[in-house]
Amino acid sequence: MHVWAVANQKGGVGKTTTAVNLGALLAEQGKRVLLFDLDPQGSMTAYFKYNPDELQHSSYDLFCHKGQIPEYLPQQIIVDTPHAGLQLLPASTALATLERNISQQDGMGLVVSKTLALLWDDFDYVLIDSPPLLGVLMINALAACARLLIPVQTEYLALKGLERMVHTLDMVMKSRQKSFQYLIIPTMFDRRTQASLKCLRMLKQDYDDKVWNSMIPVDTKLRDASKEGLAINAIDPNSRAAQKYRSLLETLQNGGG
Ligand SMILES: Nc1ncnc2c1ncn2[C@@H]1O[C@H](COP(=O)(O)OP(=O)(O)O)[C@@H](O)[C@H]1O
Ligand SMILES: [Mg+2]
Repeated sequence: MHVWAVANQKGGVGKTTTAVNLGALLAEQGKRVLLFDLDPQGSMTAYFKYNPDELQHSSYDLFCHKGQIPEYLPQQIIVDTPHAGLQLLPASTALATLERNISQQDGMGLVVSKTLALLWDDFDYVLIDSPPLLGVLMINALAACARLLIPVQTEYLALKGLERMVHTLDMVMKSRQKSFQYLIIPTMFDRRTQASLKCLRMLKQDYDDKVWNSMIPVDTKLRDASKEGLAINAIDPNSRAAQKYRSLLETLQNGGG
């Protein structure tokens, strides 16, 4: 099982879009893929037309067992998506209460790792959509993943946010004595604007081989796809964004980044 997390403390940078589209492309390859929604906003859950305010079972349930997760529980929560081979472990807005209520309890940082141990034979890939806050949920995602993807919008303000994210990562790696590979993914790149071009150059300068050597362009087809509740490969497999997500996946599967 390959476990990848998508994280950035900034919202609206393409985290959910990246997780959904990479997941659907993996499923297209015949892989068994789980999209794991750990974001209290539940955008990934809403993407597939499930309501994070009304779900009977969600990733929240995993945190309600003092770290002893019943074996049947993960499969009880998992739901289908319209893509064959692509399933979803949905989030509910109740996740937002966890930071206050359980973050002090022992073992709460390993709930996702323990959940994935129970699903080890059921999936080839797991993509975790992380919340934009450094708290117990993000710690869970970082503890469970072998690799981290950090989407960054190619605009100046996003670079500031990235500095914070990388600092957070260093802190977590030190305190957990765990290291993982991370890859920065420039997103929403608009080649007509100087700001995008300049930002891409700065990213490469500051983060060097930690930056994917290509980028995801601005493509309104991604928004069209999300309205339909489908990944872009089901809407327009030859669109620029679909092609770029395919090439990103290739990089990741070849161990790059
Ligand atoms: N490359 C892109 N081009 C155009 N729109 C995009 C692109 N990536 C994401 N979006 C849109 O931007 C919004 C925010 O993206 P999202 O993936 O939800 O960000 P995050 O999960 O980081 O908050 C969504 O409406 C999404 O459809
Ligand atoms: Mg999101």
